[in-house]
Amino acid sequence: MELGEVIENKIQQCCVPVDNILSLDANYWSRQYDNKTTNWDLGMASPALVHFVNTIANKQCRILIPGCGNAYEAEYLLSQGFENITLIDIAPTLVAQLKEKYEDNKNIRIVLGDFFELEGNYDVILEQTFFCAISPILRSIYASKMRELLSDDGVLAGVLFNRIFEFDGPPFGGSIQEYLLIFENAGLTVLEMSPTNMSVLPRLNSEAFFKVKKSNKSIPENATVTNTCSIK
Ligand SMILES: C[S@@+](CC[C@H](N)C(=O)[O-])C[C@H]1O[C@@H](n2cnc3c(N)ncnc32)[C@H](O)[C@@H]1O
Repeated sequence: MELGEVIENKIQQCCVPVDNILSLDANYWSRQYDNKTTNWDLGMASPALVHFVNTIANKQCRILIPGCGNAYEAEYLLSQGFENITLIDIAPTLVAQLKEKYEDNKNIRIVLGDFFELEGNYDVILEQTFFCAISPILRSIYASKMRELLSDDGVLAGVLFNRIFEFDGPPFGGSIQEYLLIFENAGLTVLEMSPTNMSVLPRLNSEAFFKVKKSNKSIPENATVTNTCSIK
């Protein structure tokens, strides 16, 4: 098998395809964890997110990871001293394991539930293969929900697939042009949206890094970010 085919198959096997996007519910996701059909799982924090997290100076920032899965990014945040992390995932077995793992850790809160029903206010929200896992018809609701959850200076950042898949999702792909419209239409200001090479090998040349914020206030050139959660 050619390298390209191996890479394509690895992405293809990422999730068990569904005939009906409406069946992407808690049962579907739980089944994937129970059957260990979790080929999306990198086994490590996403390199692009690690790079982004390294730009956040304030360890008290309220950070949310929706559709967190095994939450390797949370492990990285904890290792860097972050003190206010919230994880949410809809899959009960996974969440039970996370709750057990972080039972004694006061810096992390784990929620079993639907992201679209979550309430709260966050300074930083991290996106890592959650957007591509939900039905594309929910994308504008995703963006509006993100806007609702972000604090005034809050930032949503992460990676999105910058390609179309030839097979039924999840994952569901898309393009930078499409994503720009979705976020702008939801009233978010796009700070960055560009192809990234900070991807693991199977996703190389197929991801975009993005950063959007709620406020459209411009940040002065010389603004210091050490004691705030504002991200440039
Ligand atoms: C493709 S997996 C990615 C998991 C993790 N972010 C990673 O990169 O390993 C998508 C995750 O989103 C969760 N999920 C799907 N729909 C959700 C929803 N509406 N609310 C919260 N979590 C959801 C699934 O249970 C699953 O863990």
